[in-house]
Amino acid sequence: MPDRQLKPLFSRSHIDAQVKRLGAAISADYSGCDILVVAVLKGSFLFVADLVRAIDLPLSVDFVRLASYGSDTRSSGIVEMRMEMELPIRGRDVVVVEDIVDSGCTLETLYHQLLQRQPRSLKICTLVDKTARREVPIRPDYVGFTIDDGFIVGYGLDFDEHYRNLPDIYLLEEA
Ligand code: IMP
Ligand code: MG
Repeated sequence: MPDRQLKPLFSRSHIDAQVKRLGAAISADYSGCDILVVAVLKGSFLFVADLVRAIDLPLSVDFVRLASYGSDTRSSGIVEMRMEMELPIRGRDVVVVEDIVDSGCTLETLYHQLLQRQPRSLKICTLVDKTARREVPIRPDYVGFTIDDGFIVGYGLDFDEHYRNLPDIYLLEEA
């Protein structure tokens, strides 16, 4: 593995501001509703923890675990469901919370699986929308940051299961 270098991209305070903005937007759009937040593990674990505290609504939280990455920085294209949800979603207003939408394959698979369970509504909130390598026409409804390309780590995002604990977001570059 070549040496890699971390270049600061989004600071903790910048992330905080975006998370608060997303929380306020969701609170306004779903005013009067009791929503179901479905977080996609593992990458969204810090984001969802902060996001739900920025949402001023009654809500429930559930988790799914999907995996499309090995130890490379490119999607394998194969999306594997490793953990099933516990809560029923039929008739619920569901907001899926993702860390990153890249090719869009992960989210497209999940989106259609969730739609089959007949939620009342289904929207997507992602911390980062990475647009350059999109392969399927999926558009998140709530976006924290938009980047073109590049591999990022920190604030829950990993490279080969490392860097998730960094409070800020960094671009991972070859040294
Ligand atoms: P997609 O199926 O190509 O959209 O892959 C999305 C998933 O790949 C995300 O949920 C992330 O877990 C992972 N991923 C994509 N880009 C990055 C990145 O820059 N850093 C860390 N994980 C990433
Ligand atoms: Mg992920």
